[in-house]
Amino acid sequence: MTDFEPFYDVNLSYDDNYAKGPFGAFAAALAGDGGVSAASEGGNTGTVDFLGHQVNLPFGIPAGPLLNERFTTAAFRMGFDLATYKTVRSRAWGCNPFPNVLAVHPKSADGSLIPGSAELDEGVLADTRYEQPISISNSFGVPSRDPDEWQPDMKRAIAAAGPGQLLIPSFQGSRVEGMTTDDYIADHVTTARLVTETGADLMVMNTSCPNEGHNRLLCHDPALVGRITEAVKNEIGDRALAIKMAYIPPTEVTGGWGPERTIVDDSALEFMVRETAARGTVQAFSAINTISAKLVDAAGNQALPGAGRDRSGVCGRAIRRAGLDMVARLAAIREKLGLDYTIIGLGGVVSPEDYAAYRAAGADAVMSATGAMWDADLARKIKAAR
Ligand SMILES: Cc1cc2nc3c(=O)[nH]c(=O)nc-3n(C[C@H](O)[C@H](O)[C@H](O)COP(=O)(O)O)c2cc1C
Repeated sequence: MTDFEPFYDVNLSYDDNYAKGPFGAFAAALAGDGGVSAASEGGNTGTVDFLGHQVNLPFGIPAGPLLNERFTTAAFRMGFDLATYKTVRSRAWGCNPFPNVLAVHPKSADGSLIPGSAELDEGVLADTRYEQPISISNSFGVPSRDPDEWQPDMKRAIAAAGPGQLLIPSFQGSRVEGMTTDDYIADHVTTARLVTETGADLMVMNTSCPNEGHNRLLCHDPALVGRITEAVKNEIGDRALAIKMAYIPPTEVTGGWGPERTIVDDSALEFMVRETAARGTVQAFSAINTISAKLVDAAGNQALPGAGRDRSGVCGRAIRRAGLDMVARLAAIREKLGLDYTIIGLGGVVSPEDYAAYRAAGADAVMSATGAMWDADLARKIKAAR
């Protein structure tokens, strides 16, 4: 990848990206050069409803690579009509040591990593050879600036959306030593309130970051997610609340992962829906976040330096099949329970065909983090392919 500069520079630290980014085509768009005007993009094809907002194309970038207002504004100018502001917390929070991104090379012919497969525990090759279709690992630990810094910046980000565009804030709770469950719930509520103070009128709550320890994902405890979302919804009132989830496997299947697979029992995912959307506390699900895998270098040694980093979250093409699977199941449960929640589908979207596949699986909106990082024209290409 010598001819292309991702807008987030993986060769620089998170702090340097925050201070100096975005790069490449996003930098040019910010400078007023080469960007797409929102009005000209959406003008001919009409808008669609997304959680009560009219958007040109229900496509954009999820929480992650858009670190601050400069990144989200550049994303809007490049025609990404949904731009998610990277997950914020109630307090300043440090980033994992550099490097935070590596290229990942699964063994299978189509480059997929299948949830539950032995490869995830045995080791997946990770290095600095970035190749299309792109798969990477990201290991940041969900850093956050202090609210005194991110609140005014998020306010500017919201104001920079063009016609038919929407800024989506992302937040999560912070679990610190000595916290009770009630304290942890209260931290989510505090952070949601801080987000509302920026003028946001919807938000996505992250329940799914494997980089905090892959055995401790909030979304693996749907009853606690239910308690937290109820408390958050009480705080934010009519504003829409989405929750971001990791891949949740079906409870019982026959036929493995091929086309012959039948889901016999999907009660784990259905329980999550019952604890949240069915109670009116959650209006949308965003799925999926990264899939945790052991990462090794060519010699079989730990690829990311440092304690606790033997495993890391994989995203990009490798998780496309898992993302589509989760979206189709969320759509089936929506139908079964007669609910109307919004599904934001993501995981491995790198082309207009991937966008179409997610829409066909039941996603109302689609997002791309890794694919957009390696193709700043992705939104334009999807619009051109419509
Ligand atoms: C550089 C980077 C940083 C990320 N940071 C966050 C984050 O702060 N919060 C979050 O909910 N997800 C985060 N993610 C996960 C993405 O939102 C997304 O769920 C995941 O990357 C799968 O989508 P993809 O295959 O299009 O990359 C991050 C992803 C990337 C690539």
